[in-house]
Amino acid sequence: MIQRPKGTYDVYGEYGKKILYLQRLLENLMEAYNYEYFRTPIFEATELFHRGVGDTTDIVTKETYDFTDRGNRENTLRPEGTAGIVRSFIENKMYGNHSVPVKAWYFGPNFRYERPQSGRFREFYQFGVEVLGTQSPAADAEVISIPVNLYKILGLKGIKVNINSLGDTESRNKYREALKEYFKPHLDDLCEDCRARFEKNPLRILDCKVDNNKDYFKNAPKTIDCLNEESLKYFEDVKKYLAAMNIDYVVNPSVVRGLDYYSHTVFEVEASVEGFGAQNVLCGGGRYDKLVEMIDGPATPGVGFALGLERLLTALEYEKIELPINDTLDCYIAPMSDVNLTYSLTILNALRLSGFRADIDYNSRNLKSNFKQADRLNSLFVIIIGEDEEKTNVLTVKNNKTKEEYKVELNDLVFFLDENLNGGCDCDDDCHCHEHE
Ligand code: HAM
Repeated sequence: MIQRPKGTYDVYGEYGKKILYLQRLLENLMEAYNYEYFRTPIFEATELFHRGVGDTTDIVTKETYDFTDRGNRENTLRPEGTAGIVRSFIENKMYGNHSVPVKAWYFGPNFRYERPQSGRFREFYQFGVEVLGTQSPAADAEVISIPVNLYKILGLKGIKVNINSLGDTESRNKYREALKEYFKPHLDDLCEDCRARFEKNPLRILDCKVDNNKDYFKNAPKTIDCLNEESLKYFEDVKKYLAAMNIDYVVNPSVVRGLDYYSHTVFEVEASVEGFGAQNVLCGGGRYDKLVEMIDGPATPGVGFALGLERLLTALEYEKIELPINDTLDCYIAPMSDVNLTYSLTILNALRLSGFRADIDYNSRNLKSNFKQADRLNSLFVIIIGEDEEKTNVLTVKNNKTKEEYKVELNDLVFFLDENLNGGCDCDDDCHCHEHE
């Protein structure tokens, strides 16, 4: 039997319904925030991620899915969404547009060749936003408010917002030197990757999966201690704006993020529920003021975040939060035999076009099993169509909850269902609906 690739999963049933519910919720939330929907390709030129995400990150050195296409081009399945959005911003010359800042949101699959475990997949979905063209600390606070408000709307309680600042280029350089000095005496003890990181990007040593639980890591210098005055002021402003929006946070110096493009604000939201598992980071992001230039665009500041859909769903499960999914069917049509199928289909199609959630039995079940099926589908009404109904155009409609049975003329069916399911028409007296004629 051919099996799905390791680290991937199939979506169907309840899980599918939950995903669709969350997708709609995110769409509405982004409408409220006035963000614009973006969709960029699932694969991009390999070089984009080398330059964008960074040559010294695990994501790029160890985890990309690369392939050469038939035209000998080097491509990579995107491991994250930011680089693609920034490429699109540059390629479509959005920087010259008066609507800057561009506020983009996106939702889609990403691929990382990681060791699969609970909460960590090789194909996973991210919802994310990128704000390009403003350096205001209020934009950082706005971005942080998005996941926080989402969790609030969903009713998630066990979350912790960790923020930190890497500072501007000067502060980052100072930090880099401080780290090098600190790790120098331990160089021989570090893994081979970290020894390479020491020269190229010492910051990456901090999130090394091999070394980072060694004792001397605990006292490594903190970014906050290396911030210059401007960067400190920037960070204070972000905190002030977060407070203005009633967002609780903790300053956590250990948040440095695993991607190369960050400066100033970085943040992660973790599920702080006991037993949640190691992969408890629900989302992460931050400011990246040099990324657009790194991908050959004009200097443009940016800030954004992304959350993993799978981890969000796990968190909801963990806190036993039921999503208000409408799992009912308005009506289920039960033709008494194949002979009544043509007539039944005409009715089914008309009901669906009128906006009802309707389904039919194609398998010529007997009445008893049709009612069982209607129960399984959570149908509110069952319409029975036999020889008499077809002849007289008077249908037998059964309320599947109260078990009351009605005789309804075909012409009145939509009105009948509307009245019983939605409380009838709410139009004014001048209308020509059944009720007001
Ligand atoms: P990231 O921290 O690599 O950041 O990923 C963001 C979120 O995606 C994580 O917090 C996690 O929920 C989810 N995630 C990452 N890898 C996996 C995986 N293998 N399996 C399941 N979920 C995963 C970024 O990707 C940045 N692009 C975020 C950003 C946007 N920064 C600025 N703008």
